[in-house]
Amino acid sequence: MASLLFLLFLAVFSSAALFLIRRARYRRLRLPPGSLGLPFIGETLQLISAYKSENPEPFIDHRVTRYGPIFTTHVFGEPTVFSADPETNRFILLNEGKLFDCSYPGSISNLLGKHSLLLMKGSLHKRMHSLTMSFANSTIIKDHLLVDIDRLIRLNLDSWTDRVLLMEEAKKITFELTVKQLMSFDPGEWTEFLRKEYVMVIEGFFTLPLPLFSTTYRRAIKARTKVAEALTLIVRERRSDTEKRSDMLGALMASGDHFSDEQIVDFMLALLVAGYETTSTIMTLAVKFLTENPLALAQLKVRTHARTHILRSSCSRLFSEEHEEIRSKKDDPEASVEWSDYKSMAFTQCVVNETLRMANIIGGIFRRATTDINIKGGYTIPKGWKVFASFRAVHLNTDYFKDARTFNPWRWQNKSEAGSPGNVYTPFGGGPRLCPGYELARVVLSVFLHRMVTRFSWVPAEEDKLVYFPTTRTQKRYPIIVKRRDESTPCRVL
Ligand code: HEM
Ligand SMILES: *[C@@H]1O[C@H](CO)[C@@H](O)[C@H](O)[C@H]1NC(C)=O
Ligand SMILES: *[C@@H]1O[C@H](CO)[C@@H](O)[C@H](O)[C@H]1NC(C)=O
Ligand SMILES: *[C@@H]1O[C@H](CO)[C@@H](O)[C@H](O)[C@H]1NC(C)=O
Repeated sequence: MASLLFLLFLAVFSSAALFLIRRARYRRLRLPPGSLGLPFIGETLQLISAYKSENPEPFIDHRVTRYGPIFTTHVFGEPTVFSADPETNRFILLNEGKLFDCSYPGSISNLLGKHSLLLMKGSLHKRMHSLTMSFANSTIIKDHLLVDIDRLIRLNLDSWTDRVLLMEEAKKITFELTVKQLMSFDPGEWTEFLRKEYVMVIEGFFTLPLPLFSTTYRRAIKARTKVAEALTLIVRERRSDTEKRSDMLGALMASGDHFSDEQIVDFMLALLVAGYETTSTIMTLAVKFLTENPLALAQLKVRTHARTHILRSSCSRLFSEEHEEIRSKKDDPEASVEWSDYKSMAFTQCVVNETLRMANIIGGIFRRATTDINIKGGYTIPKGWKVFASFRAVHLNTDYFKDARTFNPWRWQNKSEAGSPGNVYTPFGGGPRLCPGYELARVVLSVFLHRMVTRFSWVPAEEDKLVYFPTTRTQKRYPIIVKRRDESTPCRVL
């Protein structure tokens, strides 16, 4: 008993001592201002409850007002420096692999697999990152991927009648596209089997705090094993195949790096994970923002209310005109979208940028300081601490974007606004971990919007709100009522 008490005392004493030593060290280091909250849980509960509100950035906004754009907090068990400052964010992105390393909780690493690009570091990461960039660069999209992107989108849209859950449809399309791009499989029973398992893996990513007690997490690990087994079979088959294929798996095998089966499987899983929620959410939200676009409505103020209503339920005029023009140039409305068509969608690119800015699917990125780092304002981030570079806080800041919380695609036509302070707009991150799928995601979204606008008119089936935690999405997966437009009558003001 006495020895137990002694042990307990020792434990309490040593952790208290450690706490004091650390605090003294932090004091010397001049940390960014802020509060570490309660012991152990810090401000985690405030963070979670804040994001359950409708405001996109309550946790950060509140602290930025109080402490400035760089502040200290304590979330998910660790002290963390948050940055809502574009210059500091850029510094963090560019110093990846030098002063900072990427950092994911163990529960997520298990789901990703140890050879995942997202977890790799150092020279191997550099090599794999540039390889991935070359799999989805504009040349490859133009010469190989675009045809299938358009074909699979059309195929999916063919089956739409009446009420559709847009988010579900977008996920199905995104998954089928990625499987096609990775290993040339067309949608079928096998892809649906894989998708069902895969959805369970994804669910595992959002059970963060206590994975070991979560059945969702255990199910996710099991599903991950199944997906990996299925992919391993494909890799083995491909190894004995003499025919060369021009998909990502083929390129990976032809690269001369002699990757193991396990490496290839983890790599493919990483691409599936990174592109799935992101691309499908952006597809859904672009449609939602367009449907609700208050500025398109404002532009139409001179028209009668009834006309406004009709217009609203079809599509915004500027936007549809661009797409009608592309369609009217083709004899057959089903003719493939070409690269030149994509390049001519100027206003659509504004819509894409504005959707990415407003939605901020990746709200920011976590890193870990590998050494004591001096940052802007004379502050220090201590070695081993986490940092969170918030892209969303910058994208929604009125200092950088006028009326930052309104959807206004026209702002991208204003060179002085869109072009100015170079690095405030980072929906795809930057530096050594710049998203390799940035062009691909833009093309998929553009083609999707083109087919949707020229084929259907739609109205929301019910009100559906945006939520921001644990990911940006709408509460009800955005149900809409679609009506097929007569191909011969363009979408135009009546
Ligand atoms: C709208 C869609 C997308 C958004 C907003 C997005 C955003 C991002 C961001 C911000 C990062 C940086 C993460 C970091 O720095 O830690 C990233 C990384 C990554 N993205 Fe995307 N992404 C999208 C679509 C895609 C697609 C379609 C692919 C598939 C090719 C993809 C593959 C990746 C991969 C593999 C990484 C990891 C890169 C690395 O760690 O080196 N993403 N993405
Ligand atoms: C894209 O990558 C391929 C190799 O996969 C390369 O031949 C081509 O030059 C690259 N194109 C661009 C625009 O970087
Ligand atoms: C959209 O944003 C990118 C930066 O990610 C920029 O290079 C491009 O010019 C923007 N497009 C338009 C139409 O403003
Ligand atoms: C363009 O952006 C600048 C800077 O935000 C602003 O002063 C100007 O009024 C904008 N012009 C238009 C036409 O919106």
